[in-house]
Amino acid sequence: MGRVKARNGILSITPYVPGKPVEEVQKEYGLTDVVKMASNENPLKTSPKAMAAMRAELEKVYMYPEGSSPDLRAALALRHGLNPDQFMVGNGGDHVIAMITEAFVNEGDEVIMALPSFKTYELATIIIGGRIVGVPVDSESLTIDLEAMLAAITDRTKLIFLCNPNNPTGTIVRQREVDAFLDRVPERCLVVFDEAYREYAEAPDFPDGLDYVKRHKNVIVIRTFSKVYGLAGQRIGYAAAPQAIMDTLNRVLPPFPANRVAQAGALAALNDDDFLREVLRVNREGREYLEAEFSKLGMTYSESQANFIFVDLKHNAADLAEKLLKKGFILRPGGPWGYPSSFRVTIGTPEENKRFITALNALLN
Ligand SMILES: Cc1ncc(COP(=O)(O)O)c(C=O)c1O
Repeated sequence: MGRVKARNGILSITPYVPGKPVEEVQKEYGLTDVVKMASNENPLKTSPKAMAAMRAELEKVYMYPEGSSPDLRAALALRHGLNPDQFMVGNGGDHVIAMITEAFVNEGDEVIMALPSFKTYELATIIIGGRIVGVPVDSESLTIDLEAMLAAITDRTKLIFLCNPNNPTGTIVRQREVDAFLDRVPERCLVVFDEAYREYAEAPDFPDGLDYVKRHKNVIVIRTFSKVYGLAGQRIGYAAAPQAIMDTLNRVLPPFPANRVAQAGALAALNDDDFLREVLRVNREGREYLEAEFSKLGMTYSESQANFIFVDLKHNAADLAEKLLKKGFILRPGGPWGYPSSFRVTIGTPEENKRFITALNALLN
């Protein structure tokens, strides 16, 4: 009697391990007060305008949503000077990533990505039968090495994921290098800019992926409402692309990819400039504080332009993260990314950051 076999390659996948949910840590360790600094969520929670819009929308959840999120796409188009049909809204950036590989990657096609970068690219590539081509980041600065990515392109390359700012290192690639990079990528290769953290980037020469959507035929930009807008639990993100690319991408869009409440929340959040400003201020100050404290402890970190810091503790990070977990702080150790002495810490509120540093100091002394 034969057994039901998985599709080729599926059993080689190590399932994605997200940051532990607060509820799980509370139950496991009997804690009431848990600070999650593991999933780059928004410490100021959610835009109040989005909350009000979502509460009102709850009355209508007996009806299916508008499948293509027309109001949100119109608002995005107006804001970014593109056509509404150049946007696609999905059930979070993760879903958009999966749709991109589904629509474009054939079995055996090569997909280039930085190492380390966002794990979902690996998952989406293997599920579809593509081949992962990992290109290590620069060993000193931990920035994505665009020259090495260009050198990795072969006749089988279909897609390149470029996470900017990069998760987990927080580093960015800059306008001039990206301009030159795109000029040298063959048009048969799709370049996917994942800009989940773009709002946090402060460098004046941080490139806007949407400018490339306007100028190039082979570019997709991914963005999300999970981070700066505080809607991670609602699952809503989007892609923008030149029309021909979007026409292909739309073929794999399920009927109702983004729920009604999420669409209402995202639309309202997009217009909540006060919330956005406050989020960015708290993040900037938190980053400066945490970096200064890490330096005092002799730790080093890559230059972050995001809402998290990738810090080299010079200690076994998994051990330290476990000890911090017992004290109610959830961190993301760097072992799975190949950095066993580092962890990624999400910048919290000023109070959370201080409590975390106090706990860290206590453990190290
Ligand atoms: C780089 C990057 N891209 C995409 C996502 C997906 O975000 P979401 O699926 O919550 O929209 C994340 C989430 O952590 C991320 O870090």
